Amino acid sequence: MNYKRVAQLRTLEQFLEYCQSIGAEMPVDETIATGPDAPLAQHVTYGNKTLSNRFAVLPMEGWDGTPDGHPSDLTRRRWERFGLSGADLIWGGEAVAVRHDGRANARQLIIKPETVGEIAAMRQLLLDTHAAHHGSSENVLIGLQLTHSGRFCRPNTHALEPRIAYRHPLLDKKFNITDEKLVFSDDEIDELIADFGKAAKLAQQAGFDFVDLKHCHGYLGHEFLSAIDREGKYGGSFENRTRFLRHLVETVRREAPGLDIGVRLSAIDFVPFKPDADNTGEPDYIPREGYKYAFGGDGTGLGIDFTEPKRFLDLLAELNIRLTCITVGSPYYNPHIQRPAIFPPSDGYFPPEDPLVGVARQIAVTAELKRHRPDLLIVGSGYSYLQDWLPNVAQAVVRQNMVDFVGLGRMILTYPEIAADTLAGKPLQRKRICRTFSDCTTAPRNGMVSGCYPLDPFYKEKPEYDALMEAKKSLKVTS
Ligand SMILES: Cc1cc2nc3c(=O)[nH]c(=O)nc-3n(C[C@H](O)[C@H](O)[C@H](O)COP(=O)(O)O)c2cc1C
Ligand code: SF4
Repeated sequence: MNYKRVAQLRTLEQFLEYCQSIGAEMPVDETIATGPDAPLAQHVTYGNKTLSNRFAVLPMEGWDGTPDGHPSDLTRRRWERFGLSGADLIWGGEAVAVRHDGRANARQLIIKPETVGEIAAMRQLLLDTHAAHHGSSENVLIGLQLTHSGRFCRPNTHALEPRIAYRHPLLDKKFNITDEKLVFSDDEIDELIADFGKAAKLAQQAGFDFVDLKHCHGYLGHEFLSAIDREGKYGGSFENRTRFLRHLVETVRREAPGLDIGVRLSAIDFVPFKPDADNTGEPDYIPREGYKYAFGGDGTGLGIDFTEPKRFLDLLAELNIRLTCITVGSPYYNPHIQRPAIFPPSDGYFPPEDPLVGVARQIAVTAELKRHRPDLLIVGSGYSYLQDWLPNVAQAVVRQNMVDFVGLGRMILTYPEIAADTLAGKPLQRKRICRTFSDCTTAPRNGMVSGCYPLDPFYKEKPEYDALMEAKKSLKVTS
């Protein structure tokens, strides 16, 4: 692995030259415009709101709720910082389980009658913070991401307690799933859909403008999209594999009339990866007959076929859903495509490609889908690795209509004001730029709350910091 660090690419020419040398094609603007005509300040109307900029905050959970699913002071701090960003679109806040057994970790929030008041208060805190720093919050559009974590459920401890859509030959082996009873029955799915309905009703009561019916990152909604081997009404044909989504939409609209719906989609997927002898990622193994379980894949395990992702977007449009957030892959089995980073988290591997290639892939996938459905409002993901050059690429992709909103994930943890600073034409605060150390993932993988330990003084000073440094020493992969 001999990739250049982005921080070493000190001029635009160096950045462009390097991107070209590694085949990471993406548009880059030389200067960042400010004022009302700036591409990143172009307004977007959605319902009765006029969003005043093209930044979105991506959902970022913190593994910091209480064991029974309430937010903590750390959760509130994160939402407050979402408000500091100045972004007018808050995509989902963070993954919130619709019921206890669907949590991805024992600190994930659950939306239920006992927690809805505190979740509503966090939404209000975000809006108040936005209003205090960026003027009125009237035009902030804010959704809540609703989820069931499927094969990645860990509701009680660090132990997996999976529930799956289908038996997956590679992932079952990787995560020790042997019991047929873990496959959801059709009746159980119908019950779960009813639980999404109840959760959406509570989200509406809490004041959210929309709910994101999560279909990404290997969690249950996403898993249904590749359930080609599943029998019955939720598997097999494209129509059956999207029945879960269609029933969710129907149920949410019945239970919470007037509440808008968005969908975060892993639009493409690859085969699972594993560390090789040098801890660099390599495909786990690709069956001789090809790999058919990648939604948006071309059957090779490493290539793209847009046929079904485009059909999925057509379905969203038919269902009258305009809000779409595009991401790719999964943090559990191919994190390098989902979250390009130079340093892997403790359960990861060194990147098998320059992370800028991963950024360029997400940009290209999103652009292809935007070209297909210009009527949808599309948020892109995976830009944090651009670091110092994020504003230059953000402006270029928006100006060229390759995406409607530039979503910010890890960068929001370390430097939420990057959106406001870019819009105001201020130079970036280099010391606050996310350098993709992955500690925000390594910490929770080792039982600690997430957060930007290397760059956010608040986390640096926490007692967990020393424990994290200790844990990193004994890791197979270290930064
Ligand atoms: C610490 C952490 C928490 C995340 N939490 C969520 C989440 O709750 N829901 C979700 O859909 N994606 C989640 N993601 C994925 C991000 O939203 C985003 O897709 C990813 O980090 C790539 O974007 P970036 O390059 O801006 O970080 C999380 C990522 C990280 C690193
Ligand atoms: S810990 Fe901080 S610098 Fe590292 S990836 Fe997360 S947000 Fe970025």
